[in-house]
Amino acid sequence: MPPIDLRSDTVTRPSPEMRQAMANAEVNDDVIDVDPSCDRLQKLTAEILGKEAALYMPSGTMTNQVGVRIHCKPGDEFLCETGCHIYNYEQGAFAQLSGVVARTVEGKAGVLHVDQLRGLIRPENDHLVRTRLVCVENTHNRAGGKVTPHENIVAISAWARESGLRMHLDGARLWNAVAATGIAEAEWAKHFDTVSVCFSKGLGAPVGSALAGPKEMIQEARRHRKLFGGAARQIGIIAAGALYALQHNRQRLKDDHANAQLLADAVRDSDGLSLLFDAVESNIVIFRVEPTLGSAAELVAELKSQNLLCLAIGPQQVRLVTHLDVSEAQCRQAAKILRETAGRLAGGHKSAKELEPAY
Ligand SMILES: Cc1ncc(COP(=O)(O)O)c(C=O)c1O
Repeated sequence: MPPIDLRSDTVTRPSPEMRQAMANAEVNDDVIDVDPSCDRLQKLTAEILGKEAALYMPSGTMTNQVGVRIHCKPGDEFLCETGCHIYNYEQGAFAQLSGVVARTVEGKAGVLHVDQLRGLIRPENDHLVRTRLVCVENTHNRAGGKVTPHENIVAISAWARESGLRMHLDGARLWNAVAATGIAEAEWAKHFDTVSVCFSKGLGAPVGSALAGPKEMIQEARRHRKLFGGAARQIGIIAAGALYALQHNRQRLKDDHANAQLLADAVRDSDGLSLLFDAVESNIVIFRVEPTLGSAAELVAELKSQNLLCLAIGPQQVRLVTHLDVSEAQCRQAAKILRETAGRLAGGHKSAKELEPAY
């Protein structure tokens, strides 16, 4: 039996229908000309986000870093939440590639409040970097898929605009924020100058992200995509997979969120395991492992031996992510494995029957 893979929502394989769409894609050289499939994807993405234009790139790291690049010059600074992806998991590319500095602010469960940002804009002075940009991540990966409340974003954006700062959204999982709140993509996006969205996470495409924004900014982004090595030729082959994902896989994200609740309940029920953030709002569950049960790596190895793949993301922290390649039945099975394993490691030796959850 193939393992139940909850390491990430990036592990999905393209479905037969998606592969068919990719095989049939109309293509052209997108560097010297326009690739029609990529063009279709970009137009639909821009339309959904309520932006003038969008640009397809190979990864969310690139759309974020091109976003930072078009808003900031060397010696500029952006404000962001301490646990965000741009700051922690992109090799400090903003510094390596763009000469830009980040200033982090610790949010409450990954959520920033405008009052924390007021007063952080540096005055004009030869000694100081210039504050130019605010980056927000929604949903927030390291904060267990937390949705930044819409009102926080409205307030931060209003303050940023009146302060002359630009706004960039790392919306790798914006689709999940939409599924969790019912607030449409464009309603979130209108508070940002640029928005990065990923097709290769919850939507299940094999490759790619897009950066959306006003036409001139996206034209500028196109130059930097080329500079960073992200301009590609017959890109429609993979863009067609992303387009299929965008057209077909947004509505079902609610199922992933419901499945994440099954896993969260298993964590709540298990001695020695505790949720890092009490509320699980989307498709990510992060939990702490008490050292009495062993390390996160040891628990992950134990779960792997039972065909359940999870990710250790800290010495005592484990992450589970639901996605379109794991069914409700598999998530129930995963929850059962988690309960039994935690019970056994805690020394309870409970029988599977006692552990069977009452759904
Ligand atoms: C919130 C967030 N932003 C950006 C990225 C980067 O995406 P990619 O892996 O496509 O570079 C990720 C990847 O997991 C992410 O979780």
